[in-house]
Amino acid sequence: MVESAEERIAKLRKEIRYHDRKYYVEDHPEISDHEYDMLVKELKELEERYPHLITPDSPTQRVAPMDTEQFQAVEHKIPMLSLDNTYNHEELREFHQRVCKGLGTEDVEYVMELKMDGLGVALLYENKVLQRGATRGDGIKGEDITANLKTIHSIPLKLTDETVLSNIEARGEVYMPRDEFNAMNEERLKEGEEPFANPRNAAAGTVRQKDPKVVAQRPLDIFVYHLSHHPGVELKTHWECIKELKRAGFRVSENTAKVSGIEEALGYIDHWESKKNELNYEIDGIVIKVNDLEQQEKLGATSKHPRWAMAYKYPAVRKTTLIKKIEVQVGRTGKLTPVAILEPIQLSGSTVSRASLHNEDEIQRKDVRVGDTVLVEKAGEIIPQVVKVVTEKRDGTQKKFEMPRECPVCGSKAARLEEEVARRCVNAQCPAQLKERLEYWGSRDAMDIEGLGPKLLGKLVDKGAVKSIADIYRLGKIQLVSVERMADKSTRNTLKAIEDSKEQGLARVIQGLGIKHVGKRAAQILAENYGTMERIMEADKSELEEIHEIGPKIAESIVSFLEDERNRKMIERLRQAGVKMEAEMQEGERFLEGKKFVLTGALEGFTRDQAAEFIEKHGGRVTSSISGSTDFLIIGENPGSKLDKAKKQGTRILDEESFQRMMAEGHIPE
Ligand code: IVH
Repeated sequence: MVESAEERIAKLRKEIRYHDRKYYVEDHPEISDHEYDMLVKELKELEERYPHLITPDSPTQRVAPMDTEQFQAVEHKIPMLSLDNTYNHEELREFHQRVCKGLGTEDVEYVMELKMDGLGVALLYENKVLQRGATRGDGIKGEDITANLKTIHSIPLKLTDETVLSNIEARGEVYMPRDEFNAMNEERLKEGEEPFANPRNAAAGTVRQKDPKVVAQRPLDIFVYHLSHHPGVELKTHWECIKELKRAGFRVSENTAKVSGIEEALGYIDHWESKKNELNYEIDGIVIKVNDLEQQEKLGATSKHPRWAMAYKYPAVRKTTLIKKIEVQVGRTGKLTPVAILEPIQLSGSTVSRASLHNEDEIQRKDVRVGDTVLVEKAGEIIPQVVKVVTEKRDGTQKKFEMPRECPVCGSKAARLEEEVARRCVNAQCPAQLKERLEYWGSRDAMDIEGLGPKLLGKLVDKGAVKSIADIYRLGKIQLVSVERMADKSTRNTLKAIEDSKEQGLARVIQGLGIKHVGKRAAQILAENYGTMERIMEADKSELEEIHEIGPKIAESIVSFLEDERNRKMIERLRQAGVKMEAEMQEGERFLEGKKFVLTGALEGFTRDQAAEFIEKHGGRVTSSISGSTDFLIIGENPGSKLDKAKKQGTRILDEESFQRMMAEGHIPE
């Protein structure tokens, strides 16, 4: 019998779900990435052909836009209580005493779990399908972050066939693995973005992103540790709940253990205190839970905490020391960072002599002064933090610190951009920024100039041969040989690489300028939308913001960079040197040049981003709202108020089919 599309789709989804689980949950892939990609590709193609068969639990639906602009407040099915804390063995013994007394027995079985340091979430399933995911909020009401949570592959969109669970609420901790956190921060630094202080902040900041596409690119994961609602399913112990959650397809910790009595519990706690730094995620303690669900019920809860569980918190490694002075460092993007220079101390195995104070708001909030005695902690990781000032040690000699309004290296204005906590030196030629900027300009992603490495650049800057990016194009053989006794051949190669780089085109030039927030993607979008550097330089903030994927932060950063007279001069000198500042265009391809589009309603055959990408590639622009200058409104299903407005404005309206035809034929329909 021939398989129908519907049957094939169902089969593919089941297979993909199985392999998702093997890969993301169990870390045991059974097929190659290529084989997996082929399954997804086939499913996507079928769903494109039969869009009415798309369901929200399809593996293709992990990244979808939020259906509202704001996170909606939602009431929890069951209040999300927090756990009571203890900090030492004694207090934990007292907890055990209370449990024994409450249950009338000394014989208590506990489940011991790691206390992940992330963000608690509640996941609701109906008929096995994920309906809603919410933050904890105040415990009664949280925020609906379903669209963001769906991007986490280890959260099943649909529970497995094997499980008896169907209508449930499960709870777990969303977190960011350490290695991925470090890699992401490195990437952010490269892009001139603010790094996150720790994995917890990174996870918390990410789940509250308004764009699920951004969330999908961030390395979030989850451990599920609680089955809070399971009507009609007989389960006797927490241990059984965890086993069933695992069977249902959730990622549960492998380090959970069943123990009997308090001594074994303390053994588990001590074991993990020495082992916790080997984990690829941060934990801030251990959770001890009474295993028997009937016993849990008998013990009940206070208004804040269950009486059957307790969090044992590991003490952070902390010591006091003196702030000798506060220095200000200047990074590649000109960011000024105040750094506390400390009287050196030993802290969990290394000497700590400096700690970042992050920014002026942070200094003010903690009221840190030069000469203060401060409490320093190594937060889980390697980075020392100033926790607080020991005010009792103040003797009146301490001095308040003021962030300089000028760059400490070049004396230019250090401005604070709207919505930013950091001050930045606005001078792109600032020597502190220069070496790194030059390196970035020559890097593979930007102008790709082989041979122009950090060593050579450092010497050129120190000698005064290069004072700006534009000076690279004035370098001659003599200068290269004089700074680094380079062999004749490698000198020639480097000079040739510099010459060749002039042809890299606008997108790479923009990227190479190293404007804050403007990485590879934003540079490409700008190049595609404007075509030439002149046009970008003429654009104002509101115009830039109208471009799809360019937000206010990026727009402001571009304008502030291009407003600076020195930066404008540098760009002019690059142009005079022969650096090409036009986008690569192919004849006839830019048939949408100058046309403005707005998209509305649900498109069937492709996503909005795909549509936007197509429009931009062909010279058009996508904006979010209809105005007098909008040329086309493209409408999908349920177009809403934009359609009325377009009709009033007399904007041309294209339905999905006409738009598709336009894409295929490469010209604007009559
Ligand atoms: S159990 C009623 N187990 O710590 C059950 N919580 O204040 C309450 N957490 O809000 C939660 N790891 O976000 C539980 N293994 C674990 C946990 C855990 C981390 C978080 C959770 C909770 C907070 C406790």
